[in-house]
Amino acid sequence: MRRSFAGPLTGALALMAMAVAAPGAAGGTTTPDGVVIGGQPVEISQSPWVVALSSRDRFGGTRAGQFCGGVLVAPAKVLTAAHCVSSDVLGVPLGQVRDLAVIAGRGTLKGTGGQEVAVSGVQLNPAYDAKSNAGDFALLTLSSPLSAGHAIKAAGAGHTAYKAGTGAVVYGWGDTKGDGTYADELRAALVKVLPDSACERAYPGYNKATYRADTMLCAGDESGGHDACQGDSGGPLVADGRLIGLVSWGSGCGQAANPGVYARLSAAPETWVARN
Ligand code: ARG
Repeated sequence: MRRSFAGPLTGALALMAMAVAAPGAAGGTTTPDGVVIGGQPVEISQSPWVVALSSRDRFGGTRAGQFCGGVLVAPAKVLTAAHCVSSDVLGVPLGQVRDLAVIAGRGTLKGTGGQEVAVSGVQLNPAYDAKSNAGDFALLTLSSPLSAGHAIKAAGAGHTAYKAGTGAVVYGWGDTKGDGTYADELRAALVKVLPDSACERAYPGYNKATYRADTMLCAGDESGGHDACQGDSGGPLVADGRLIGLVSWGSGCGQAANPGVYARLSAAPETWVARN
């Protein structure tokens, strides 16, 4: 039931494409059944705040143990999705994972560039609700700091970047097709902030899949084809150079009727992220 996408990007998204310096993006087409979904490879040096969460013990060494994304928000602090450190994802309780680490500055998981830094502490958002995924934030403390210049600020509540229609970029090493094809290289896809009504319609509230506009943000592509997918969770959604969301959940990947749901950064614990 996958849909292919090869249409031209809109003007605003084409500009965003150039802003992420994606090879081939200026031409405005994507690989059919594209790649994140509907994205393209990007240089990690252009987005040094994107990090991979890794545990080789849990996920094997082929892709350096990558299982989620994260965002550097201070030299020794990485923001990720709370569900990424759940036993559902890890297969065992967090306390049993001895080699939880962050990989920074490495776009190609099989490569050796950048740094691997151990995670020395994990805080869950006290307001996180595992049932509904509301408030899907966790803060990781790194055992040694990374470059302060590589951290990104979040958009404060009320910032225009949260408005429907804003072009945004989502980054990750996750599934590129929705069939378990995981990326080795960091990819980015261009999406749009969608009105809350689009996700309220798609996820009207049976059990887990309830969209809550106070802690969640709706983003995607009205015609489908551009989205985050499995393995991208915890990674950043960026607009106007500011962090506005973390990949959280969705039904399928890249479907027009089922947009991506992100943890809304303005709902992250006050002291966790610098805002402007
Ligand atoms: N829960 C997924 C993860 O753990 C992210 C799913 C995002 N899905 C989407 N269609 N945007 O990686």
